[in-house]
This record gives sequence, structure tokens and C-alpha cells, in this order.
Amino acid sequence: MTVNDPINVIRLEDICYAYPGTDTNVLNHLDLEINKGHRIGMMAPNGSGKTTLLHVIMGLCRPDSGTITIFGKVLKEEKDFVPVRSKIGLLFQDSDDQLFCPTVLDDVAFGPLNLGFSREDAIDIARMTLERLGIEAFERHITHRLSGGQKRLVAMAAVLAMGPDVLLLDEPTAGLDNKVQKKLIHILNRLDIPYFVISHEFDFVSSVTDRIYSMENGRILKDDEIHIHRHEHVHKHGRHPHIHK
Ligand SMILES: Nc1ncnc2c1ncn2[C@@H]1O[C@H](COP(=O)(O)OP(=O)(O)OP(=O)(O)O)[C@@H](O)[C@H]1O
Ligand SMILES: [Mg+2]
Repeated sequence: MTVNDPINVIRLEDICYAYPGTDTNVLNHLDLEINKGHRIGMMAPNGSGKTTLLHVIMGLCRPDSGTITIFGKVLKEEKDFVPVRSKIGLLFQDSDDQLFCPTVLDDVAFGPLNLGFSREDAIDIARMTLERLGIEAFERHITHRLSGGQKRLVAMAAVLAMGPDVLLLDEPTAGLDNKVQKKLIHILNRLDIPYFVISHEFDFVSSVTDRIYSMENGRILKDDEIHIHRHEHVHKHGRHPHIHK
């Protein structure tokens, strides 16, 4: 596949990244492709580098080596990432990193306003998105006073209101009750954009994706290299999904 292949949305090649002041490569010669039609799940242990990977894709962490190609363009400097960021919907792992306006409506309208919509249109888009997630009743609420799960939904609304071309979701179900999780599953399954979703919840991941990757030693393990599954037998993992090596 070439870089300009129209089905290629995000492509990482041979990416190495260590946090400044450290000498451990969190990402170590990592390759990843997110293509049109891809609905990729990512299940990997705490600290394996999942969030770092999303931050590298967004240009929030700059790799020490390797190539990032997004929408067919190789991105190197901050100015290359700026126009691309607004087309990628990143749901941060911590909602407080995403939400900074006084009210819910302002937070969700912020993205469309930034994209150049009029105040009136941005508010309309925000209201429609809040309705889609069933949280229109929160619109006048003070964002920072919401519960963790409510903030998660508002953050998700803020991401969807941007009309992104691809979604990167970092633990979207954290703090969500079953009913709200089901709504999110329904919404994701009706989206026609590719997405990459990090989660520790096997049932959720398997309901919204068609392939599940993992990460180990700074690299992606694809589903043909791992075998994540649910079964029942007696050992320390019990009924929880786990990887057999
Ligand atoms: N700002 C930072 N400075 C130095 N090291 C960091 C920083 N952020 C993360 N790390 C380290 O990088 C590694 C990967 O962290 P990362 O947050 O990407 O993991 P993760 O897979 O998202 O974990 P989790 O499932 O807990 O969210 C960890 O060892 C972590 O300690
Ligand atoms: Mg993380």
C-alpha cells in the first residue's frame, strides 16, 4: 500500500518515542495503520503505551524517529499537525483535559466554533449532539461539577460535534453505567468513520470493533499474534478476558 492510498487514514511507521529525560522507548519501532472501514480495539496492560500512542498520532508527543502519515501527508512539525488535529476526534483518557468551558453547552459548541461555524450554528450542532447522547438536560450545567461518567459523555459529545474523519477514543466507557454504555455502543456502531478505541472492557470492545490489537514492548500486536477471548475456567483470571501466551 502506498502512502497516498486513499484508504489509508493514519499510518505510523517505525515510530520510537521516549519521554524527555528518560531512556526507555515507550514506543519502540511501532507500526500501525488505521484505514477507512477500520474499527480497531486496543486492549493492553496499564503503562504499555496506549495513551502515548494516541498523543504521538496527534502531535502532542513528537517521536524520536519514524514516520507519521495522516490523510496522505507526512507530518513532522507542529504546523503540519495543526490542520489535521481538527479532523481527528481524540477523546482524552481524562475528561478534565478535554473540558474547560464553564457550561456543558459551551464545551460542546467550542469545537464547531473553532471550525468557523457561526455562534448560532455551533449551538445548534452542540444541542443536536447532546440529544444524540441523551444528555440535553445537562446543557446549562457547570461542567466541572458533573460526575465522572457525565463528564465522559460531555467529552464524547465535544468530540462528535467536531464531525471528525477518524476517532481515537481513550477508554470511552470509564465511569459509564450499563445503560449509557449501550447507548455508546449503538452510536459507535452507526458511525461510518474509522476508529481506534482503547478499553479494558472486553464486552464493550468486542461489541464495537472488528479487530482487537494489543501492545507489548512498545509495539502493536495484531489479532493474528494474540488471542484475546472470554471463557470460563478456574484460574486466577476467572471470568475476565485475558491473553494466553
Ligand atoms: N509525561 C510522562 N513522562 C514520563 N513518563 C511518562 C509520561 N506519561 C507516561 N509515561 C510513562 O510511559 C509509559 C506508558 O504510559 P501510557 O500512559 O501511555 O500507558 P497506557 O497504556 O495508556 O496506560 P493506562 O492503561 O494506565 O492508561 C508508562 O510507563 C508511563 O509511566
Ligand atoms: Mg492510558
